[in-house]
Amino acid sequence: MAEQIRLTDIQKHFTVYERPDGKWALLRAAFSRKARRVQALDGVSFRIGEGEIVGCIGPNGAGKSTTVKVMSGILTPDAGECLILGRTPWKERIAHVSQIGVVFGQRSQLWWDVSVADSFALLKDVYAIPDGQFARRSAELIETLDIGGLLKTPARQLSLGQRMRCELAAALLHSPKILFLDEPTIGLDAVAKLTLRAFLKEENRRSGVTMLLTTHDMDDIEALCRRVIVIGRGRLLYDGAIAGLRGKYAAREGQDIDEIIAAMYRDMALES
Ligand SMILES: Nc1ncnc2c1ncn2[C@@H]1O[C@H](COP(=O)(O)OP(=O)(O)OP(=O)(O)O)[C@@H](O)[C@H]1O
Ligand SMILES: [Mg+2]
Repeated sequence: MAEQIRLTDIQKHFTVYERPDGKWALLRAAFSRKARRVQALDGVSFRIGEGEIVGCIGPNGAGKSTTVKVMSGILTPDAGECLILGRTPWKERIAHVSQIGVVFGQRSQLWWDVSVADSFALLKDVYAIPDGQFARRSAELIETLDIGGLLKTPARQLSLGQRMRCELAAALLHSPKILFLDEPTIGLDAVAKLTLRAFLKEENRRSGVTMLLTTHDMDDIEALCRRVIVIGRGRLLYDGAIAGLRGKYAAREGQDIDEIIAAMYRDMALES
């Protein structure tokens, strides 16, 4: 299995400014802003091979989205190495984005006031997809994601479930080798979740696209990922099969997976 993703000791901090509160808060903020340093990633390393589907879990604020943003080239880390298909995302931006697709469940990648079809046409130009390839690929995605009836609608008028199907098509139009998904199932109903999982599984099987997805829904992990990585407080805390987590944190036979994960998160909080 050829290696496609390699992160080595990635560090990233943010500086956040606290707002004073109370009377004259705005005025005081102009003179004395208290800066606080948040270490979002504190030495994250992992490797992912071609065709893998890796699930990334961890408590709120753990550093999952930051990791996805570093890998997609949206954020530049303070230190460490990140190689995606042999390239450093923030150094070779254009070559990098032509090989990856990104889906953020919490944020649309589509043009808000533009119809879905026009967004696709814009992406065709952005990625310089040849006519024939675009026609084939868009027809295929429109069919499998069942979005034919949505093409004339502006993104802002779509329901969340409808929008997510369009987002997936948009992210895959240029046939990337790697797909990053940050909470792709957030807010979806049961049917939409099952459809999305089935689509990702089939896409991975058919085109071999490598996927890394973050989620809080353990059913996503169980349905899609043989391998799971756990990030907590900006560090990689586990990398392996989901069964290994069961083995380590399950209190009893047949325990619900959310209870097991909650036990692990509590354990992590006690560690430091
Ligand atoms: N743009 C930013 N400015 C300041 N702090 C940030 C920024 N983005 C993230 N952080 C901080 O970095 C840490 C990691 O955030 P991140 O969004 O990566 O967490 P996450 O694992 O995706 O959490 P969640 O499950 O809630 O989405 C948090 O403490 C967060 O407050
Ligand atoms: Mg996040």
